[in-house]
Amino acid sequence: MAEAAAAPAAAAVGGAGAPSSATRSRDGSAVSADLTLFSTRHCTRAFDATKPVPRSLIVECLTAAAAGAPSSQNSQPWRVAVCQGASCAALSVALCEAHDADVVGAPDYVNRPAPADIEAVMAHCIAEYGTSFFALQHLARDDVVGRKAARRRNFEFFGATTELVLYAPSPTVGGMLVDVGAFLQSLLLICHAVGLGACPQYSVASYAPVVKRVLRLEPAGRFTVICGIAIGYPLPDAPINTYTALRVPLADFARFLEDEDTPTTADVEASAGGIPAVTGAGAGGGAGTTAGATAGATAGAVAWLGGEAGEAAAGGGTTVTTKAATAITTASRDLASTLQ
Ligand SMILES: Cc1cc2nc3c(=O)[nH]c(=O)nc-3n(C[C@H](O)[C@H](O)[C@H](O)COP(=O)(O)O)c2cc1C
Repeated sequence: MAEAAAAPAAAAVGGAGAPSSATRSRDGSAVSADLTLFSTRHCTRAFDATKPVPRSLIVECLTAAAAGAPSSQNSQPWRVAVCQGASCAALSVALCEAHDADVVGAPDYVNRPAPADIEAVMAHCIAEYGTSFFALQHLARDDVVGRKAARRRNFEFFGATTELVLYAPSPTVGGMLVDVGAFLQSLLLICHAVGLGACPQYSVASYAPVVKRVLRLEPAGRFTVICGIAIGYPLPDAPINTYTALRVPLADFARFLEDEDTPTTADVEASAGGIPAVTGAGAGGGAGTTAGATAGATAGAVAWLGGEAGEAAAGGGTTVTTKAATAITTASRDLASTLQ
């Protein structure tokens, strides 16, 4: 991969080999690893239009992304259309026409709930993104024309001469989106490792009928258009490429269950076959909603199996009643089906 070796970002982050240079303890746990490659990836939204990405490099990136991406039952539901040259130009023209004519989007899937249903942390992130991203571009909230022009840049692929379209076979159930997301992140990180910039684009998927028509997707089967991905060499001095999106603190997205109250064997027996509720700060969130209740029950199962009763179920020596053992089995099965 000659281009990769010469790429500036590869030099800056130590290249794709950085994570493998980790020092490992005897039990295999990471003692130190250079995670810079992961933490420095951000979207590129201004590309050098004079410097196309060689097809061979795209082939290498896609091959490596597929090699490293996990998928449920190894189903590998990602599909990619690579648009370069005339096909890239044709797709851009068709999308820009739809955008300019204010064609109403018709995506194959929604990317977030209705505003009233958006969970608080997500709502905060979305609002902050809207404010800071447009501020960077000196676009006021009421600048309708300026915002429309900024959105149009999506359909010009931000100057990139390579546009990928990521799609999946129909019916595309929720789990398949998880798998395609894993592939997407692999690809974005690999691009970053070899000095390429990239930006995933739901905006492109919002015009799914246009994408399918131009790429002649549907005659070959039925598909869900997941997103576009603009790929190219970043323009180093473009202010928009300096945008670093906010990340919520760890405490807002991760829970360490060993720090929380864990039900004892007595709690298990008293629960008479039910899953004991987890109490304390992280007891499921979203209380009062179906999602919150489900999350609470699943979290209960996790805390429970990680504690004393879990050790007992695994033959750790403590007596567990049959009813409680059944509850553990049910909880594990629920958890397993949630995870698969
Ligand atoms: C599925 C998906 C769709 C996205 N669609 C767009 C898009 O249409 N236009 C855009 O400029 N950015 C898009 N983004 C980029 C996000 O805005 C970006 O990932 C987020 O703000 C975090 O910033 P970072 O990736 O630069 O760290 C998308 C990202 C994902 C994962």
